[in-house]
Amino acid sequence: MALVDAPMLMALDGVVAQLPTDVVARAKTYLRLSGNGKTGAYSDPAGHLWVREAIASFIARRDEDSTVAPDPQHIIADGATNAVRIIMQLLIAGPSDGVLIPIPQFPLFTALISLCGGTVAPYYLDESVRWGFNVQNLEMSVQKLKDDGVTPRIMVVINPGNPTGQVFTRDTMEDVVRFCHEHNIILLADEVYQDNIYGADRVFHSFRKVILSMPSPYNTTSCISLHSTSKGAVGECSRRGGYMELLNIAPNQRAQMLKLCSINLSSNFNGQVMTALMCSPPVEGDESYPLFRKEYDFILSGLKERAELLTKELNSIEGISCNSVDGAMYAFPQIYLPPKYVARCAALAQEEEVAADARWALELLEATGVVVVPGSGFLQQQGTFHFRTTILPPQDQMMAMTSAIRAFHTKIMESYA
Ligand SMILES: Cc1ncc(COP(=O)(O)O)c(C=O)c1O
Repeated sequence: MALVDAPMLMALDGVVAQLPTDVVARAKTYLRLSGNGKTGAYSDPAGHLWVREAIASFIARRDEDSTVAPDPQHIIADGATNAVRIIMQLLIAGPSDGVLIPIPQFPLFTALISLCGGTVAPYYLDESVRWGFNVQNLEMSVQKLKDDGVTPRIMVVINPGNPTGQVFTRDTMEDVVRFCHEHNIILLADEVYQDNIYGADRVFHSFRKVILSMPSPYNTTSCISLHSTSKGAVGECSRRGGYMELLNIAPNQRAQMLKLCSINLSSNFNGQVMTALMCSPPVEGDESYPLFRKEYDFILSGLKERAELLTKELNSIEGISCNSVDGAMYAFPQIYLPPKYVARCAALAQEEEVAADARWALELLEATGVVVVPGSGFLQQQGTFHFRTTILPPQDQMMAMTSAIRAFHTKIMESYA
């Protein structure tokens, strides 16, 4: 990335000598492919073809036994958030277009659905089955939409999940595909956490691969999947790298999507380089491979250790219960709030509208300095309270955080018993 941004570094004495040969070769290739070393010009709005080819090869390697090869022309490489914006703009014309979103939700989706004037149709993840869900509930959500004169257009599935940290089983994924196919709904598979899998009995399956492995007609289900350079071991969120891949999307819809992209004139270049790097990491035999492998394994095994530790610590606090963090970067524990505490929050809420778990989070912050996000910010089953926290901090900070939460919540439980 640095060499592509500042190619003159390669002419400085000693710089090239300090870098692995494959890194220098890669920078030269990217510079050549991007316009003979001039990277500041507008690029294709869907991203440089060489970047989309790198993404297509990555998908083909990841989903090795898929029957349909990914096509670079069906890939738009301009970030994950931008992709969601374009999808919502294209598929929502007004309140009669509905989008099914998982609750607890990731606010990006509700925000963009509101901005585009569409209707949010919630479906609830089930905490009692590791935040899985039952397709029966989906049928109910769709029926309610239809009764209200709303056509379901998109179903958002976040796997691995934010904020719930779940990883769906293949059976659940197949149920989702059948459901989307039967109701003619486009599946929006948010798979930005696909590298972040920790649960011993969970593996990541891409929706693309699941769809293509299903019998006809389900293998023709429309799906748009997302990936990003913000998560995984890369974690370069501000570079805004990522892509969407379109599977079984009608040519006229694809053309409209490209038209919407072209309003931007160009995909951002650094995000494209970051995405190409994520999609074509060093391979065995490259000089940079041993260091890459070491750093990658260190980051992911650290996340896995902390996912297990955080679950264990949270579950050892009276009044808090937490599903295992099977994937992504978050725990979403349930907090038991004594009725007297909830009543006090309700009385205070008359002066200032703050949900009971939001007040709990504010009081936790004031008492301990620990910041968590209240469950009400993500929506949750009525009458339940949660908060979201993350496995990102180093282990010692995480232990300090859980012991502060323990002391704080124990006091609440005793004072309001
Ligand atoms: C589930 C989910 N989808 C999409 C995004 C957006 O990714 P990016 O910031 O790379 O566009 C995030 C970011 O946190 C996320 O958690």
